[in-house]
Amino acid sequence: MPNPPVFQGVVFSSESAAETQQLARFLGEGCTGGETFLLVGTLGAGKTCFTQGLAWGLGVDEYTHSPTFVLVTEYHGRLTLYHIDLYRIESVPEAIELGLEEYLASGGVTAIEWADKALDSLGGAGMVVEILSQGDDRRTITLRPVDTHHETLLARLQARRESRASQLEGSR
Ligand SMILES: Nc1ncnc2c1ncn2[C@@H]1O[C@H](COP(=O)(O)OP(=O)(O)OP(=O)(O)O)[C@@H](O)[C@H]1O
Ligand SMILES: [Mg+2]
Repeated sequence: MPNPPVFQGVVFSSESAAETQQLARFLGEGCTGGETFLLVGTLGAGKTCFTQGLAWGLGVDEYTHSPTFVLVTEYHGRLTLYHIDLYRIESVPEAIELGLEEYLASGGVTAIEWADKALDSLGGAGMVVEILSQGDDRRTITLRPVDTHHETLLARLQARRESRASQLEGSR
């Protein structure tokens, strides 16, 4: 059998919560439906912060918070955002019981915190978002598409950032 395609990850650096939200907002703006963000990172890394930006990019105007007691929170914007937190999940079957696959197939956008707890069953499609703290407010955010749809989304994000950077350059 041929090897599955390997997609190149791209590393971004963020100096503040606002910068993380801006990056995620651009991604949200590029979503067309059916996207999955597999958020990986320790407590307080910025997974919810990233999801907030994503929500803004989808035209959601409610405040996004960690779905601590409710495991799935739904937000309505241009597309529906399902915000899922697997922190309290003990096992993959439990995640499946949550109806994860139905959210993924819904045509909305799904953001899953602590996705590493179920990567084996979730890892077939989506964008892995790995947030690593570098001390204080600095983070590195690695975006790793797992399929061509999310690879296109990443390319759209990079084009958007480049055009913004050149606009800023031009306005100096
Ligand atoms: N560059 C940055 N990117 C994201 N968050 C940052 C950054 N710098 C500081 N922060 C702060 O770090 C915290 C991140 O909290 P957040 O709730 O998003 O983390 P989390 O990964 O969802 O944690 P948990 O695992 O508890 O759900 C916020 O208080 C945010 O303001
Ligand atoms: Mg969180």
